[in-house]
Amino acid sequence: MSASLRDRGLSVVAVANQKGGVGKTSSVIQIAAGLAKRGERVLVIDGDPQGNLSLFFGPESKLDFGDLLAAFLRGTPIRLPDFLHKRVRRNLDVIPARNRNLRIELDDDDISRSAKPFADFISSVRIRYDWVLIDTSPSNSRLERLLIAASDAVIIPLEFQLFSVSGLEAVLSEVKECADEAGKEILIHSLIFTKAENRLNRVNTYRNVFSTFSIPIFEICKSEYLSRSLEKSRTIWECGPSSYAARDYARVIDKGFLELQ
Ligand SMILES: Nc1ncnc2c1ncn2[C@@H]1O[C@H](COP(=O)(O)OP(=O)(O)O)[C@@H](O)[C@H]1O
Ligand SMILES: [Mg+2]
Repeated sequence: MSASLRDRGLSVVAVANQKGGVGKTSSVIQIAAGLAKRGERVLVIDGDPQGNLSLFFGPESKLDFGDLLAAFLRGTPIRLPDFLHKRVRRNLDVIPARNRNLRIELDDDDISRSAKPFADFISSVRIRYDWVLIDTSPSNSRLERLLIAASDAVIIPLEFQLFSVSGLEAVLSEVKECADEAGKEILIHSLIFTKAENRLNRVNTYRNVFSTFSIPIFEICKSEYLSRSLEKSRTIWECGPSSYAARDYARVIDKGFLELQ
């Protein structure tokens, strides 16, 4: 297993895949809440205008992620507390998204122009938090690129199926383009196979196929428990701390994020 994010000094992590329904939002929620439970100070940015993550935590704050980008464009000074839904859990703050029309109100040029101020904003908040986790929208858009470009590392949730290979290749080249454009390195930290079902015969084939990418792999078992707990706005740590899904996400946190080698 490669060095953890903490070992490498990387703390801003985008969770991305252009495909929807692969477990991006669920993974951000469980990882963020698990880190916060371990005493880490965590900021989550809901970068998906559909706002699923914000719905989970309740989108309370005067302003949201879209307002933040709009403020950059106007050149208005940013007061972080105005954008925060503070203490959604102990040690855990969220910048919510609730404007589904964001991409209509801000066109691609606007979003491109907010990329630099957004990256500067991330640099200024990273000193207040141990971790900044970013949920992204299921698209290859300027908005997703802005979020990836401001990150140190990317985690890619996937479903165990051969179709996921082309999706993975698309994310890898997108991250590379973002890194080149921003003139920095962005680590592809890991693949997280959500909804993994060991009883499927094909699983070993998938493991072999995806291991050729030489990216660390985590598996989260398929869990009715997890999907139901999400509907009730409860994390796996609150709803089923001894479930298999909790065990699997704990491994991502302890090995992937925190473990010192
Ligand atoms: N480990 C899991 N087991 C069962 N269902 C899951 C698991 N992880 C995610 N899901 C379900 O998959 C659906 C899509 O997840 P979501 O996190 O919203 O994906 P995305 O953000 O990539 O669109 C949700 O209904 C969620 O409850
Ligand atoms: Mg989502």
